[in-house]
Amino acid sequence: MKVSQTIKLARKNVSAARKQGKTIGLVPTMGALHRGHISLIEAAKKKCDYVVVSIFVNPTQFGPSEDFGKYPRPLEEDLKMCKKAGADLVFNPSVEEMYPEKNITWVNVEKITENLCGRSRPRHFRGVTTVCTKLFNIVAPDMAFFGQKDAQQAIVIKRMVADLNMPLKIIVCPTVREQSGLALSSRNKYLSEQEREDAAYIYKSLQKCKEMIDSGGRNTETLINEMRNILQQKKSIKIEYISIVDEKTLENIDYIQDKALAAVAVRIGSTRLIDNFPIDITR
Ligand code: PAJ
Repeated sequence: MKVSQTIKLARKNVSAARKQGKTIGLVPTMGALHRGHISLIEAAKKKCDYVVVSIFVNPTQFGPSEDFGKYPRPLEEDLKMCKKAGADLVFNPSVEEMYPEKNITWVNVEKITENLCGRSRPRHFRGVTTVCTKLFNIVAPDMAFFGQKDAQQAIVIKRMVADLNMPLKIIVCPTVREQSGLALSSRNKYLSEQEREDAAYIYKSLQKCKEMIDSGGRNTETLINEMRNILQQKKSIKIEYISIVDEKTLENIDYIQDKALAAVAVRIGSTRLIDNFPIDITR
């Protein structure tokens, strides 16, 4: 496995693989890797001949009062995990390498970035789409792999790729969870043991919603109220949103008709956690 800190070297490595006729898969991450990230690397290994993992804590997607400074950066451990998972190249640039000057060019996806996480993180997705465009331009992958865990992010990236005719395919992989149901996240590291236990209620609320839909529940207000009841059983959980939205527009819906997304964001202490599940009643 190679590790490149510079764009030039990353491009050189990728183009050598490309010359050998290999297909290129990219797994963009911010590091502090866990089994969720590893599942993306494994999916990439299955579909592509040469797998690039980027590890870059991207400053432009953090708000001024968010955790950019304290975001975990266990690079040595991350590199070991990438190697074990079979990555061919880790691209691990510095902030100066990615943003030598304060960028004045942004890629901004409108509308679908306004609801859900966009409400409390107004410029977050602009940072994500901009850095992903940069990564796509640097690596030129055939496919890039994203997690369902960050459902809005995956939908926004897919839309950006479609709108701008970017020549790659976006693959979305299922959410990997702890036994308790808690979705794995680099930010789970911030939780105390008690908080981690409480955090399992996020999944519990989503499961309840799923059960109600499976037995015919379609009214989103009823479903959301039930989810709220479950989350409110834990004092440590502060609800940011519980939403059921159209899977394409990400606008709130009153009634589930075919495909939708149930999504939750909460704070436990100072840690923000999100989770979701896709709804498809056509199946
Ligand atoms: P990060 O939070 O490190 O996540 C990297 C990728 O791993 C994302 O596609 C995310 O959805 C996926 N992921 C995280 N937890 C997961 C889980 N439990 N199961 C499955 N996949 C999971 O998302 C980002 O970084 C950044 O915004 C990035 C896209 C790298 C741009 O900076």
